[in-house]
Amino acid sequence: MMNFTPFAPHQAADVIHLFFQVFSDSEGEAEGQLISNLVKDLIGTTNAAELAGFVALDGDEHVGAIFFTPLTFQRPIQAFLLSPVAVKTSYQGQGVGQQLIKFGIEQLQQQGAELLITYGDPNFYGKTGFQPLAETIIQAPLLLSYPHGWLGQSLVSDTMPTIAGKPSCVPALNNPIYW
Ligand SMILES: CC(C)(COP(=O)(O)OP(=O)(O)OC[C@H]1O[C@@H](n2cnc3c(N)ncnc32)[C@H](O)[C@@H]1OP(=O)(O)O)[C@@H](O)C(=O)NCCC(=O)NCCS
Repeated sequence: MMNFTPFAPHQAADVIHLFFQVFSDSEGEAEGQLISNLVKDLIGTTNAAELAGFVALDGDEHVGAIFFTPLTFQRPIQAFLLSPVAVKTSYQGQGVGQQLIKFGIEQLQQQGAELLITYGDPNFYGKTGFQPLAETIIQAPLLLSYPHGWLGQSLVSDTMPTIAGKPSCVPALNNPIYW
C-alpha cells in the first residue's frame, strides 16, 4: 500500500539514492549524479525548519520524493519552491507523482504557505495546480534557461500576486547549473 509522509532525516540515504537512480534512468548517469548531489546538499545545508520534504512509501520502500524550500522576497510572503521531484522508474505513470505533490501542497497549506513556485514541465505540473508564470509577475532567483518552465500557484487567492524584486533561494539551489 502507498503511504505519503513528511521526509525525516533518517531517510536521507534512501532518498538520495532514489534521485540518483530515477534521473540516471531518465537522463543518464551524469544527471543522476547532479540531481542526487543537489538533494544531498538540500538535506545537508538547508535549515531543518525550512526544508519541507515528502516521500511516497510502498511498504518500506521509498518510491517517490519531493522537496520544497523557501523563496524569500523583500516583502514577507510565505513562498516555497518545489524542486526536485522523482518517482521510481517502475512506478511512473500511475499517479504517484501527482498524489505526492498534492500531499505536499496540503501539508504546506496547513502550515501557512501562501505561494508555491516550481520549474519544470508545464503539462505535468499543471495537473497539480501550477500555471505558467511570467517573470514580470514574479521573478526567478537565477537566470532561467527554460522560461516556459517557470510555474506558480497561489494557495490563498485565485490570482497570482505581482511581487517586486528578485527572490533568493536556499544555498543548495543557488547554482546556475540547476536553472
Ligand atoms: C515526472 C515524474 C515525477 C512524474 O511522476 P509520475 O508518478 O510518473 O506521474 P503521474 O503518474 O502522477 O502523472 C502522470 C503524468 O505525468 C506525465 N508522465 C508520466 N510518466 C512520465 C514520465 N516517465 N516522464 C515524464 N512525464 C511523465 C504525463 O504527463 C502524465 O500525464 P497523463 O496521466 O495525463 O498521461 C516522474 O515521471 C519522474 O520522476 N520522472 C523522471 C525525473 C523527472 O523528470 N523529475 C521531474 C523534474 S524535477
